[in-house]
Amino acid sequence: MDRRKGERKELISLLQETQTELGYLPKGAMQEIACFLGIKAVEVWGVATFYNQFRLVPLGKHPVKVCMGTACHLARGRLILEALERELDIKVGETAEDGNFSLERVACIGCCMLAPVVVIGDRIHPKMTPFKVEEALIPYKILTKQAS
Ligand code: FES
Repeated sequence: MDRRKGERKELISLLQETQTELGYLPKGAMQEIACFLGIKAVEVWGVATFYNQFRLVPLGKHPVKVCMGTACHLARGRLILEALERELDIKVGETAEDGNFSLERVACIGCCMLAPVVVIGDRIHPKMTPFKVEEALIPYKILTKQAS
């Protein structure tokens, strides 16, 4: 915040930088931003919840991203997303209670020829189907069990 003027128009970029730094927007950080800009915390909360680029909870240990760019959308990416919601028992934008998985919808990740695409951790899973979802998650669930 040192190089900022403390003007309201800086709100979105401050939220973006905070999220880049921390991975999500903790309440304390939003309150600090509100103080710095001289606005109410509820205003910051309102902006953070309006745009789906902002996360209010930390990412899971194994973040799952479903591409919903045009090619993946046309290749029935929505069905993949629904299958993942069922399999992980969380909705898009949420993190599982145990912190192991989070689920996000993202824009094109640049490999449209492989649509529909899911990214788990840093690994791309090409040409997904709802039936492949469970299988794709198995290695991550094993890692999770071994760690506990
Ligand atoms: S639209 Fe999904 S990778 Fe491009």
